[in-house]
Amino acid sequence: MLMRCLWAAGSKLAVNDEWGLNGKVAIVTGGGSGPGIGNGRAASILLARAGAHVLVVDRFLELAEETVKLIEAEGGSAAAASYDVTVASQCEAMVADALSRWGRLDCLDNNVGLGMFGTVVEVSEADWQRAFSVNVDSVFLTGKYAIPAMIRGGEGGAIVNISSVAAIRPHNLTPYSASKGAVHAITQAMAADHGKDGIRVNCVVPGPMHTPIMYQFGMNEEKREQRRNASVLKAEGTGWDIGAAVRFFLSDQSKYITGQILCVDGGVSLRGPDRET
Ligand SMILES: NC(=O)c1ccc[n+]([C@@H]2O[C@H](COP(=O)([O-])OP(=O)(O)OC[C@H]3O[C@@H](n4cnc5c(N)ncnc54)[C@H](O)[C@@H]3O)[C@@H](O)[C@H]2O)c1
Repeated sequence: MLMRCLWAAGSKLAVNDEWGLNGKVAIVTGGGSGPGIGNGRAASILLARAGAHVLVVDRFLELAEETVKLIEAEGGSAAAASYDVTVASQCEAMVADALSRWGRLDCLDNNVGLGMFGTVVEVSEADWQRAFSVNVDSVFLTGKYAIPAMIRGGEGGAIVNISSVAAIRPHNLTPYSASKGAVHAITQAMAADHGKDGIRVNCVVPGPMHTPIMYQFGMNEEKREQRRNASVLKAEGTGWDIGAAVRFFLSDQSKYITGQILCVDGGVSLRGPDRET
């Protein structure tokens, strides 16, 4: 097969344009991480390797800048920006930022997320609302501004929303499970509403990924072993596994796929209540 090898538009990277992402513009929210490779950081790097210009957005600018440094070290094209995607005006500014830098918007990875333990009895109203704000409002608000920009561009676009296996295999994470379940529903609603605009919307459902944020939830070797045992592959995933699924859904390789919810979880979702055995 004849492979096209192109110079990525506006960058020093030579890319094989098998993904159809060369010269496209992508926003990755929660694209910082640290220290190490989170889901958003991995997606940002893989999109840039495919020739996309990537606006790496994080609440913490220095985390986004770290991702951009990694991309630029490989010759890719990216810029870091700090926006809080739970705030409408900041989502509007984020989209305007991508347009002013590169003149178009093609792809959006809604990667921010907030894990939260507790039952309905235990969780406060304020925490419940915070979980929905970060996990669901962010998808609503980024879409509100990104979709019209994609439509104006005239070539459609692609969006990926990141949920969690906790949405379908809940276990003492009720605000997280409920809000990530809403991400599945909004994904399908967005896909149904905007297919006519040439905009595809899909959802990636991570399982036990070994990402830096897990250490904020008390990750240790014993818990890692439990997580490995929960999957049928007896392994944790990494941010790269999620990044690869995101790149697929944002690329032309999935151009006839929309409204889908894809578990990237080593088979955790196949297991029943005895899933640690
Ligand atoms: N790591 C896992 O095992 C796992 C499992 C299931 C689902 N997920 C989901 O994957 C996604 C990314 O997870 P990760 O482990 O890579 O986390 P991560 O911490 O590496 O990345 C999330 C980033 O989002 C940023 N962020 C948080 N709130 C924000 C806001 N309001 N505005 C802008 N930026 C904000 C954080 O600063 C952080 O850098 C989340 O949606 C998470 O729920 C992760």
